[in-house]
Amino acid sequence: MRLIIQDNHKLTSKWVANYIARKINLAEPTAEKPFVMGLPTGSSPIGTYCELILLYEKGKVSFRHVVTFNMDEYVGIPKDHPQSYHTFMWNNLFSKIDILPENVNILNGNALDIKAECQAYEDKIQAIGGIDLFLGGIGPDGHLAFNEPGSSLASRTRDKELNYDTKVANSRFFENDISKVPNSSLTVGIATVMAAREVVIIVNGYNKALALQHAVEEGVNHMWTISALQLHPRGMIVCDEPATYELKVGTYKHFKDIEKNNLEPDNLLTSSLIW
Ligand code: GLP
Repeated sequence: MRLIIQDNHKLTSKWVANYIARKINLAEPTAEKPFVMGLPTGSSPIGTYCELILLYEKGKVSFRHVVTFNMDEYVGIPKDHPQSYHTFMWNNLFSKIDILPENVNILNGNALDIKAECQAYEDKIQAIGGIDLFLGGIGPDGHLAFNEPGSSLASRTRDKELNYDTKVANSRFFENDISKVPNSSLTVGIATVMAAREVVIIVNGYNKALALQHAVEEGVNHMWTISALQLHPRGMIVCDEPATYELKVGTYKHFKDIEKNNLEPDNLLTSSLIW
């Protein structure tokens, strides 16, 4: 696993956006062979999405041949609810870039047949040839998408109940009223994310420090589902300084040292050796 430590969230966002843009450009995607991405919601990726929009506006990247699959969606709120992940994605990214609406895939939390909806999502990912790069964020308890502590590390797309911690964390988007936060979600599984050819996770802020410590220094454990990343051949976490506060000094110095030539975001846009 790679760990890229940036001074602050702004630089983290820039690094990840430049990395993604370079990956898309190196893939030279076409309609027949698109670049396929998994995408998260939440506050962690917003800065990255802003940077991607800037890169698009400057003509440095196009999303015309990019296909996306979002990680998760709430169950039981309308698609056009201000806090649905559909709304989030269109407001924060899709409406501001040249992605084709038919290339956007987001789980339907109002599907009558939840099982069929989830299976169709997995089938569609497989039919297109799998995901090239899965971008993610994590919750303070180390959950990836809505794979709460105790979720199977072999899980695929399915419905999941939200735990109390997640509802408290997400209540900030629902007028700080936990009773307004949906109780369940549809989410890709840990194995769905791990099947991607590459996984990039954004971790920022002190409230994620314990989760980062478990992800990087402890063993693979279903109570910290992000720790499954240790088993991925191309797993990378990009974090800011506050997120490193629970790491051992030696761990911090090790990753700072081995990545010292890879930390400058601007170099990524032209580098041929990005991984
Ligand atoms: C939700 C989402 C996750 C996201 C997490 C962290 O629970 N299902 O995919 O990573 O929130 O959100 P934030 O980035 O706002 O801290």
